[in-house]
Amino acid sequence: MSIDRDRLKRAAADRAVEFVESGMVLGLGTGSTAGFVIERLAARIAGGLRIVAIPTSEHTAELACRLGIPLTSFAEHRHIDLAIDGADEVERTRLDLIKGRGGALLREKIVAAASRRFIVVVDDEKLVDRLGEHTPIPVEVARFGWQATAAALERLGAEPVLRQSDGLPFVTDGGNLILDCRFAPIEDAQQTERLINMTVGVVENGLFAGRSSAVIVASESGIRIMTRQS
Ligand code: 5RP
Repeated sequence: MSIDRDRLKRAAADRAVEFVESGMVLGLGTGSTAGFVIERLAARIAGGLRIVAIPTSEHTAELACRLGIPLTSFAEHRHIDLAIDGADEVERTRLDLIKGRGGALLREKIVAAASRRFIVVVDDEKLVDRLGEHTPIPVEVARFGWQATAAALERLGAEPVLRQSDGLPFVTDGGNLILDCRFAPIEDAQQTERLINMTVGVVENGLFAGRSSAVIVASESGIRIMTRQS
């Protein structure tokens, strides 16, 4: 029997929105699960909830605007109370993440870093023993010299592939390119995140080590809230 992943994603999203309180500054993620968060949030706002939100992509900004969610920016608010976002892979003990299949990893990481709490919403298919089991690490790079940056990433052990969209290089909201970098399953996410970012030409990468406050996982047997084991 096939499992309805969207139903599970929506269940995780709905549970996460229960943590939102009036007066909060929120970070809004990008992707299909974050889209369900935005829909649920809009319903709560229609019922009287008062929040403002910083979106992590132009796509999320457009969706939030359309559904009546008031937006703000870092010009008005330096700190975010709570960010809610999806992920591509979640390492099940440390709750480190791979993000960026939607191409929004740079803004997503800026928002996560500025947030007091960062709640991740996934279905159980995203849980892995080691990051990189299924998903390459998206690395956002400057357009200029991207081939040289790709060669430097190869020297770190990656197999970089330039992301395409409709036969053309995919361009991020920041005007950069993405190299999807397959590595052997990651032993030390923090170290790998740092090493990739030390490469000249790299703007940011999709490893999020030590950032999740909690991960809400939806499966056929219900919702589980995972917190980091120290
Ligand atoms: C976008 C992301 C998304 O959160 C991630 O790709 C998960 O997406 P989805 O909820 O559609 O499975 O990192 O840059």
